[in-house]
Amino acid sequence: MYTSVTTLSLVGLKGREIRAEADMSEGLPVFEMVGFLGGEVKEARERVRTALKNSGFLLPPKRITVNLSPADIKKSGTSYDLAVAISLLKLLGIISEDAADDMVVIGELGLSGEILPVRGVLPMLIEAKQLGYDHCIVPFDNMAEASAVDGMDAVGVRSLKEVETYFDTGSAPKYEDTDTGRSSDRTYDVDFSEVNGQETVKRALEIAAAGMHNILLVGPPGSGKTMLAKRLPTILPDPDMDEILEVTKIYSVAGQLKEGQGLIYTRPFVAPHHTVSSAAMAGGGTIPRPGLCSLAHRGVLFLDELPEFSRSTLEILRQPMEDKEVNIARAAAGYTFPADFLLCAAMNPCKCGYFPDRSKCRCTDADVQKYLGRISGPLLDRIDICVEASRIEYKDINLKGESESSESIRKRVKRASEIQRMRYEGSGIRFNSDIGVRDIDRYCHLGKKEEQLMRDAFEKLGMSARAYHRMIRVARTIADLDGSDKIECSHLSEAVAFRNIDRRYWNG
Ligand SMILES: Nc1ncnc2c1ncn2[C@@H]1O[C@H](COP(=O)(O)OP(=O)(O)OP(=O)(O)O)[C@@H](O)[C@H]1O
Ligand SMILES: [Mg+2]
Repeated sequence: MYTSVTTLSLVGLKGREIRAEADMSEGLPVFEMVGFLGGEVKEARERVRTALKNSGFLLPPKRITVNLSPADIKKSGTSYDLAVAISLLKLLGIISEDAADDMVVIGELGLSGEILPVRGVLPMLIEAKQLGYDHCIVPFDNMAEASAVDGMDAVGVRSLKEVETYFDTGSAPKYEDTDTGRSSDRTYDVDFSEVNGQETVKRALEIAAAGMHNILLVGPPGSGKTMLAKRLPTILPDPDMDEILEVTKIYSVAGQLKEGQGLIYTRPFVAPHHTVSSAAMAGGGTIPRPGLCSLAHRGVLFLDELPEFSRSTLEILRQPMEDKEVNIARAAAGYTFPADFLLCAAMNPCKCGYFPDRSKCRCTDADVQKYLGRISGPLLDRIDICVEASRIEYKDINLKGESESSESIRKRVKRASEIQRMRYEGSGIRFNSDIGVRDIDRYCHLGKKEEQLMRDAFEKLGMSARAYHRMIRVARTIADLDGSDKIECSHLSEAVAFRNIDRRYWNG
């Protein structure tokens, strides 16, 4: 006799269909599991056997074989337990032979027969939907995630007994959707109105948010760099549904969705400490999980005190910043996680922090160069906007609530992002920072006057081609914020000014 139940496996962020087959025959009483199994899956045998016993279902003293197919995919994780158990319940005749035939089943078993939540339910169910399934059984604690998948009818269960009841009577534990993250009137603990002065930095952050441009803040201690960067999330454009799903998939696979959380409706803000390892940044492990770069996907990766990060950690960022994804090679398979983030970095210009204010800076020129040299050229080359936070002036210290609020800035950012959404419809581009070199002329056409201005700037500043293209993209965003279809000289001049600042520090 033979039974089978469909479940899924995860390779990176993608689900793959897996069949849990069970067979019972006469012979010496054994219970074995085969099918290219990783360590945790081998242990499933004990978990499933004990869970069945403790739920009152005894395996007969026969030869029972469970196979997870196809055999070319290495099975890892604990999410196959429930499918194996249901396959066995069918084999024992406890539930009907055709039970769960049109469903996918996901879940881990505890020894008592309880069903525990697993990682990656969202990407697995999205894949199941594409394969044509519209029913599933998942752990009750994963219901928030499961109900986020459109057109998928999910049954949440807490124990094997509840599974039996469900197939007997069709009744399942009631789940009430309490996901409240959807509300669009989000509130933040911080606001730009708390920051006095620093208008240039605020303007730079507004441009960065509107076009999702990488940005570097440089300035002396106490000038408010950290304070300003932490307010960047309050002005980011709202993510669309595709982006929301992409982000939630990553957090689901990383096991980082909060309890009861369905979809993640806000752009992530990831701010690792500078002691973070390069492996944590990129992701990895025997069964690779997304790293911090991927957790920042479609949001912000904030690196405060940039030169304090180890060289290897910073170097590892180069590939994702170029390709917008992280590739991790493993013997069993290659894994790819998306990593398209806005890099926001902050730093002091030297060790004591006061360069170029020579009345305060105690560093020698060589010290300053050494400090700045920790940021490699190629990394610097991928930063679109560089801005100086200067020491706050006396007249700005005691302004109370006179600065513009995040909400008011966000309105402009939203308008600019809508202009981009319309312009790039169907092109695969989302924000101006994504425009490839080939498309620059198409989307950022310059008139005669404007071209002359850029030619002069190019020659005067000794720009690289990459720097030139970056400036044009930033100018495109500035024009969008201005509601102007055409890129004007004023837009270009502002973009050029933002690049001039890093020349002051890095090019002498
Ligand atoms: N523009 C400002 N408006 C209001 N408060 C400010 C401003 N700038 C600095 N502060 C105050 O100074 C504190 C220190 O600022 P912050 O930590 O952001 O400085 P920083 O530039 O990151 O310094 P460091 O280089 O030492 O990291 C803030 O918590 C805030 O209380
Ligand atoms: Mg700081």
